[in-house]
Amino acid sequence: MAEVEEKLIPVYIMGKLYEVPPSLTIMKAMEWAGYTLVRGVGCRGGFCGACATVYRIRGDERLYFGLACQTVVQPEMYLGQIPFFPTQREVYDITELTPQAATVWKLYPEVLRCLGCGTCTKSCPQELDVKGYMASLMRGDIATAADKSFDCIMCGLCAARCPAEESQYNFAILARRLYGRYLAPRSQHLTTRLEEIEKGAFASSIAELKAADKETLKKRYAEMDIEPE
Ligand code: SF4
Ligand code: SF4
Ligand code: FES
Repeated sequence: MAEVEEKLIPVYIMGKLYEVPPSLTIMKAMEWAGYTLVRGVGCRGGFCGACATVYRIRGDERLYFGLACQTVVQPEMYLGQIPFFPTQREVYDITELTPQAATVWKLYPEVLRCLGCGTCTKSCPQELDVKGYMASLMRGDIATAADKSFDCIMCGLCAARCPAEESQYNFAILARRLYGRYLAPRSQHLTTRLEEIEKGAFASSIAELKAADKETLKKRYAEMDIEPE
């Protein structure tokens, strides 16, 4: 325990000084310091976007951004979490939309007021070309916007910094939904496999798996060739 204490570093959580082990992520450091996280935490693996965090390092005027579950603490870190950022989000029925530029512009006309400043790109913990996908949306290129935003985790940090008060990630998920439903090439393999399932080609295998015990299932899973040649 003494060895651990020697290595503790000072960090400021919500303005209060704590001494924490330097190997911890921001999220674990907050828990080490006694916080019980009920907001701003989800997957703990960098996928859900619930733990958006802003921080400064003492003596450095820059503002930094990261995910609390992925970013390791540094000495003299001043940090605060943004577990929710209020943005404009329209309600729509994807089956009633068409995959056209006008659909995006009608639902979110504010897309067109993007200044192209690039602050969103600098803020993104996923290192996405946010400015780029915004430009695609302004041109009405839904497929490119969907592709460029594919790894967005909806953390909200881009919106928090945008001088034009955009809701980038809500525009982007509309693009991905339109692309997925209307524009993405259809997989013939999938169609064929679904037809096979409906005809009962795998009925006996499925019944066998349903009847198997947990250990058998674990063994079968471990032996599975996930991506056969
Ligand atoms: S921060 Fe806002 S205004 Fe600047 S490029 Fe991104 S979306 Fe456009
Ligand atoms: S595009 Fe915006 S909401 Fe999506 S991961 Fe990047 S910063 Fe977060
Ligand atoms: S808790 Fe899900 S991304 Fe950090």
